[in-house]
Amino acid sequence: MINPVYSPAPGRYESGIRFRRCGRSGILLPEIALGLWHNFGDVNPLASSLEMAHYAFDHGIVHFDLANNYGPSYGSAEETFGLIMKKSFAPFRDELFISSKAGHDMWPGPYGEWGSRKYLMASLDQSLKRMNLDYVDLFYSHRYDPETPLEETLQALVDIVRAGKALYVGISKYPPQAAAFAYKYLRERDVPCLVYQGRYNLINREPEVEGILDQAKENGVGFTAFSPLAQGLLTGRYLDGIPSDSRMAKEQFLKSSALTPEMLKTLLALNEIAARRSQTLAEMALAWCLKDDRVTSVIVGASRVSQLEDDFKALENTAFSQEELNAIDQAISDKR
Ligand SMILES: NC(=O)c1ccc[n+]([C@@H]2O[C@H](COP(=O)([O-])OP(=O)(O)OC[C@H]3O[C@@H](n4cnc5c(N)ncnc54)[C@H](OP(=O)(O)O)[C@@H]3O)[C@@H](O)[C@H]2O)c1
Repeated sequence: MINPVYSPAPGRYESGIRFRRCGRSGILLPEIALGLWHNFGDVNPLASSLEMAHYAFDHGIVHFDLANNYGPSYGSAEETFGLIMKKSFAPFRDELFISSKAGHDMWPGPYGEWGSRKYLMASLDQSLKRMNLDYVDLFYSHRYDPETPLEETLQALVDIVRAGKALYVGISKYPPQAAAFAYKYLRERDVPCLVYQGRYNLINREPEVEGILDQAKENGVGFTAFSPLAQGLLTGRYLDGIPSDSRMAKEQFLKSSALTPEMLKTLLALNEIAARRSQTLAEMALAWCLKDDRVTSVIVGASRVSQLEDDFKALENTAFSQEELNAIDQAISDKR
């Protein structure tokens, strides 16, 4: 059969996947989630997107992270996911945890970005249609809007939950003060913030430095780390030049200027530490995020199944000796 009906691996929850409680909530999330920011747009072959989504679900990676403008083109990653829902995942909707977001530029004019009620409401309605869903499990305010009263953005999130269009809400990239306000506002309306999504990896440690990790924990809010591989830098991808099919070769979101001689030296040093742990650099980078119990999960991207296979192996060893942690910090500080 050319397109056999999808039937998920019966052993998907015994594949090595582990779940962590997301803050003080009833939700358990897989330690690895699959993000659809890149490689799931209408410029990518559907077969490749299907293959990666199937691999994820077959290994208990039940959390799929999207946003209105993922693609390219904008909206097309959600459309792809809608096709995957229709073709493969519809019978398993209750096993899935699907998140989407609005906040960045999506459509032209004053109502197509940031944090107004008008934008968030319209955007989620569009997302649901594209994904063939009645509701998302989690809807995020994708970024803090310094111009819109925060009450307006947060009340829109509350009303979205009350309307049954999302089960939970979250925030992404909010500065600590705005996050504190959001946690309080949402809690007081009985729609507690489920999760904070922030960039966190071996070389971008802002959530640690700015206190976001501690603040989330104190507020009973989970933390999911996006770009845990620094968009691919923290993998073997660039140790030997810039492959033509890599994100860096596109010079859009990951620029070749990031691969300075100092950075390459650091990556090579990290790669050696990983090898001593019998891990690839990608495995060690993910394990490093997951060693911290303030982190609920890492949201990885991938352009092929072999990368997901590698990333998944990170779960086999997420413990670090003090010596290894010191060696990692030394390799990172040599870069500065
Ligand atoms: N809230 C926000 O504002 C925000 C921002 C960014 C991302 N996110 C979320 O986080 C998700 C992940 O972000 P990201 O794609 O930047 O994550 P990432 O996991 O840091 O980078 C993913 C890229 O790394 C490479 N890669 C992954 N595994 C590899 C392996 N084992 N070996 C070699 N290369 C490997 C691939 O690059 P190639 O494509 O070059 O093969 C892949 O596309 C997004 O999809 C999105 O859901 C959220």
